[in-house]
Amino acid sequence: MDHASACAKIILCGEHAVVYTRPAIAVPIHDLRAHATFTPQAGGALHVHLEDLDERWVWSTHLQHPLAVVISHTLDTLGQTPPSGMLQVRSDIPIGGGLGSSAAVATAVVRVLAQALHHPLPPDEVARLVYEGEKLWHGTPSGIDNTVIAYEQPIWFVKGAPPEPFELSHPIPLVIADSGQAAATRDVVAYVRQQWEAQKARYEALFDAIGHVVHRARDALVRADWPELGALLNENHYLLEQMGVSSPQLDALVQAAREAGAWGAKLAGAGWGGNVIALAPPSRAGEIVHALRRAGAQHVYTTGVTP
Ligand code: MEV
Repeated sequence: MDHASACAKIILCGEHAVVYTRPAIAVPIHDLRAHATFTPQAGGALHVHLEDLDERWVWSTHLQHPLAVVISHTLDTLGQTPPSGMLQVRSDIPIGGGLGSSAAVATAVVRVLAQALHHPLPPDEVARLVYEGEKLWHGTPSGIDNTVIAYEQPIWFVKGAPPEPFELSHPIPLVIADSGQAAATRDVVAYVRQQWEAQKARYEALFDAIGHVVHRARDALVRADWPELGALLNENHYLLEQMGVSSPQLDALVQAAREAGAWGAKLAGAGWGGNVIALAPPSRAGEIVHALRRAGAQHVYTTGVTP
């Protein structure tokens, strides 16, 4: 039996603008994970069981399911026929919450197949294979989710350029709050594209402003200057609101975190639902968690992002 897993991710800053070639920073959340297990069985077929969705199918090249397509590309890359057996997939990562659940599930699957077929793949290859599924799930993704998850390291990401993984000198004191509202990344990304087409100058200016924030955020991150990074997260949230991808619920969570003493807070991911991140002084983390719960967060993770 083979087992592999993959982490969740959060976008620290730069979402949406990253689809339009501005930089973004994403970080892995190591302790929220998707898991894939492969058990060899006689019979010749590759059975797939997605436990959380209660979905079962038998892999074939004709299936259009994003995960089936990722499996096809993986087998092509490995130059192998499908192994005979049962592939079981489960995930602790909420679906539609902006934590990269689809990319994490696909990454765990690519890894377990590579392991079962004795052909380890480097992170850039894993990211490339998972991207094939992300296109089917999300429309026109930038590729940031599959990249940060494949590397399991903080990433400076510009679409079309090689990703730049980097080391953190200090853990990032983050609190992540799930609004409980699920939103499809595909719909939010499509909305931004429509708006950009209708109001190019305005949206280009918003993307430029976000790109500027992301450059300054990288400096603040390297210096572990949390008050500065917090102010930049606030600025980024304001720009996302202007873009039309926040929601009253996300704004309320951001506001609650700030009032409880966060250095800064913003929505993270596509928006209209999903998660909010707050940069939390350790002495205020407890209060911030309570404030987020009172403001309606369904789950609050105090998981830090460690170097
Ligand atoms: C989704 O996690 C991040 C977006 O920027 C879309 C993308 O980069 O593909 C909203």
